[in-house]
Amino acid sequence: MIGAVQLGVLAACIVVLVPMALAGWHLSRNKVLFFSGALFISLAVAVHLSPYFPSLTDFFPVTTTSSIVSSSSSSSLVILDNRDSCLSLLHRIKWKELNSSSTWKWKWVVSDHNVLACDFQKLGRTDSGDLLNGSWVMVAGDSQARLFVLSLLDLMLFEEEMVAVRGDLFKRHSDYHLVVERVGLKLDFVWAPYVENLTHLTMGLSRNHSCPDVLVMGSGLWHMLHVNNSTHYDDSLRLLSRSLMPLLGGKSQPHLFWLGMPKLINSMLNTEEKREKMTSAAQFAYDLGFRSAKLLRPAGPFVLLDIHSLSENCGETCTVDGMHYDPVVYQAAVHIMFNALLIQSHQKL
Ligand SMILES: *[C@@H]1O[C@H](CO)[C@@H](O)[C@H](O)[C@H]1NC(C)=O
Ligand SMILES: *[C@@H]1O[C@H](CO)[C@@H](O)[C@H](O)[C@H]1NC(C)=O
Ligand SMILES: *[C@@H]1O[C@H](CO)[C@@H](O)[C@H](O)[C@H]1NC(C)=O
Ligand SMILES: *[C@@H]1O[C@H](CO)[C@@H](O)[C@H](O)[C@H]1NC(C)=O
Ligand SMILES: *[C@@H]1O[C@H](CO)[C@@H](O)[C@H](O)[C@H]1NC(C)=O
Ligand SMILES: *[C@@H]1O[C@H](CO)[C@@H](O)[C@H](O)[C@H]1NC(C)=O
Repeated sequence: MIGAVQLGVLAACIVVLVPMALAGWHLSRNKVLFFSGALFISLAVAVHLSPYFPSLTDFFPVTTTSSIVSSSSSSSLVILDNRDSCLSLLHRIKWKELNSSSTWKWKWVVSDHNVLACDFQKLGRTDSGDLLNGSWVMVAGDSQARLFVLSLLDLMLFEEEMVAVRGDLFKRHSDYHLVVERVGLKLDFVWAPYVENLTHLTMGLSRNHSCPDVLVMGSGLWHMLHVNNSTHYDDSLRLLSRSLMPLLGGKSQPHLFWLGMPKLINSMLNTEEKREKMTSAAQFAYDLGFRSAKLLRPAGPFVLLDIHSLSENCGETCTVDGMHYDPVVYQAAVHIMFNALLIQSHQKL
């Protein structure tokens, strides 16, 4: 058995090194402090109990070594001093074709020192689980929102957990509810092809006095295809914005994200009706309608997840039907959301 002194030294090392490792992963400072505190308490308990439970000392060194080893750097925590500017830089992404098999990868543009200073990170399964631990995430919208949910879960779940999700989530035009006990995550996907559906949902939430921690919304393609009236789209977005007000007045405000429309490649669209209605002129008009509704911060409540720029930059090799893009596009949007959440939760202090 390890002596009390060695154990004390070990405990001190863990309390110092694990937060440093976490800082290396660039979780928010808040989180690091929380972990440091939590570790200190559990170690204090462990140290006191160890004479009675010798086996405790067996697993502590193992867990600590692995977390320190897996941290790639020991760089100090970057304090984001201009969070709004970092939020605005989240889409400064560079795409790169790895080889001719049209496998695309992306990374944040690091040649720009402003982007570099924001220190954006692609979170892995453990970090994203920590970030969303205990959260209720709701994603509402059309097939773009569904693809976004798929990428979100793909990042957070293990492959064997994903098998069931893929089957259920691809039942067309239906809602989907999932609780991941392991992470303490509650996730709702709400099928909402029109802005009216989003407004209806929002009013239901405020009637119920319930509000998700993270609310991702997006809608427009169905309206463009079946209504073809960008003025009406603009009006319905304003109504949505108004319906969100009660939710924003509460004590626990949701983090709101708007999932933008993808770049539509007209010649690749798979029906005659789509090719006729979803023209570049229509896209332009709908984009103007969206802008004039002022949904985005600072004028409105939403942070944009700019699927349009992400899909456009990934390009036509990233889509087979000119509308639904490869998972990598929605993955990038998920990582952008995670980084926005990190920035925002830091801001809350
Ligand atoms: C292309 O790159 C991906 C990822 O690095 C790799 O898995 C795949 O085998 C490569 N394909 C070819 C044809 O080299
Ligand atoms: C999530 O947080 C709870 C306490 O808030 C903790 O008991 C649990 O272990 C955490 N889960 C993960 C995966 O971090
Ligand atoms: C969405 O809204 C449209 C138009 O208001 C309505 O016809 C449709 O039933 C709604 N769909 C859902 C799933 O609520
Ligand atoms: C509001 O609560 C009712 C009853 O619990 C539930 O059926 C409904 O889905 C809730 N609405 C929303 C938008 O959460
Ligand atoms: C488009 O919608 C606006 C506002 O809802 C309405 O006033 C206008 O008449 C509609 N235009 C057409 C061509 O239907
Ligand atoms: C869609 O609306 C625009 C503007 O009102 C109109 O010019 C265009 O012809 C419409 N397109 C279709 C396919 O109805």
